Amino acid sequence: MVSALPPGGARAVARCDELGVAPYSDLPDSLYRGYLTPAHRAALDRVGAWMVEAGMQIRIDPAANLIGRYEGLAPDPPALIIASHIDSVRDGGRYDGPLGIMLGIEAVAALQGRRLPFAIEVIAFGDEEGSRFPAAMLTSRAVAGTLDASALDMIDAHGISVAEALAEMGLDVVEYLTAARAPGTALAYLEAHIEQGPLLEAEGLAVGTVTGIAAQLRYEITVTGTAGHAGTTSMPLRRDALAGAAEMILAVETIAGAAASDLVATVGRIEASPGAANVIPGSVTFTLDVRAGDPTRRDEAAADILEAIRAIAGPSSFPREGGVPGSQAIPSVAPVPPPSRGYSGFAQDGAGSRNLDVAITLIHDLPASPCDPALMDLLDAATTAAGHPIRRLVSGAGHDAMVMAALCPTAMLFIRCRGGISHNPAEHVDPADAEIALAVMSGFIDRLGATLDPA
Ligand code: GLV
Ligand code: MN
Ligand code: MN
Repeated sequence: MVSALPPGGARAVARCDELGVAPYSDLPDSLYRGYLTPAHRAALDRVGAWMVEAGMQIRIDPAANLIGRYEGLAPDPPALIIASHIDSVRDGGRYDGPLGIMLGIEAVAALQGRRLPFAIEVIAFGDEEGSRFPAAMLTSRAVAGTLDASALDMIDAHGISVAEALAEMGLDVVEYLTAARAPGTALAYLEAHIEQGPLLEAEGLAVGTVTGIAAQLRYEITVTGTAGHAGTTSMPLRRDALAGAAEMILAVETIAGAAASDLVATVGRIEASPGAANVIPGSVTFTLDVRAGDPTRRDEAAADILEAIRAIAGPSSFPREGGVPGSQAIPSVAPVPPPSRGYSGFAQDGAGSRNLDVAITLIHDLPASPCDPALMDLLDAATTAAGHPIRRLVSGAGHDAMVMAALCPTAMLFIRCRGGISHNPAEHVDPADAEIALAVMSGFIDRLGATLDPA
């Protein structure tokens, strides 16, 4: 029962709070912990010390994941991986990611040296959010063995390459893919995470069992017009990339809104250049994120959105034979879906369009990821044993679990967060809920052990 456990849930929350400020943040006044930044390095040192204190042996793998291993009964058994991510979005909350790592450490600490038929590895993944480089889940993809080396050929907003950032941490990009685990070494994967939505709170529940994670598509779109003098270029002569991007972004909202389903589409980052009050923007880059529980619905919506974007840009941006002009899809991910169905709200023939060029790069295509039914049952049983009702729910947010499903069966436990708010400094978790989550995780671990060693 909850009361029999040390107050590890509260300590997990307190540790997330400690990691929410400098030196564990790259910003002085809010939380941003980017992949391979000084704040990331500082956090790995601190979290590594907590792992050692809980009885684990630690190492940093070639993708800069921190791994703490707690050995099992027999030598070298496969491991239950308990993980989440240590990176954050810009101006993010303190619990999205770190809470799952801290609870993993507490679950090991709660064993108090008791050994199981499997090892436990707690992993602090380095890059789930994709906040620094234009791709997400790099480090879990490396561990799952699904990352193509060419995906590492990226630079951040300051022109620093992944290879250079790794070197700052004493790591070599050439070794990156050796972070991949042999499939037999991973027994199962468990990730505890704040819900990032309002359902559990609305129903008065502390925790829920995740049934699966929605499919995600992410693009980077660059619109190119002509930079010019804001005082001398008459309106009809302009090729204003930012005005065009604004129309495209409204099209994204309109198309996703019209679906009236779980389909969501978001433009979360935009940069205009040259970025001066008296210069017509010549170039704009923005991201596009499209998600739905059903991959077909997601792909059709993405195709509609891209078609609308091309129509707004103008005839020169329509795909010619051989692909989308200017696009450079990252190898190992699916090609940009071709336009599939006309979207009546926007110019289809170039008439009224803006004579802009558009280049579309697919950043990632993550399929929907169902959780393992047997592991879901173990989480449910542990929830009941901890004295709480069972609730199953789908995750609209992406998680390292969806990548790790390529390696082993996965399970996720959601924890109520206040107002469902996340990716926001107002993110809040009640320590009492973290305590319940820890009780469920401990019950899950015991039940997994019993399935392997019924005696
Ligand atoms: C991660 O937080 C995501 O869902 O993008
Ligand atoms: Mn997040
Ligand atoms: Mn997260």
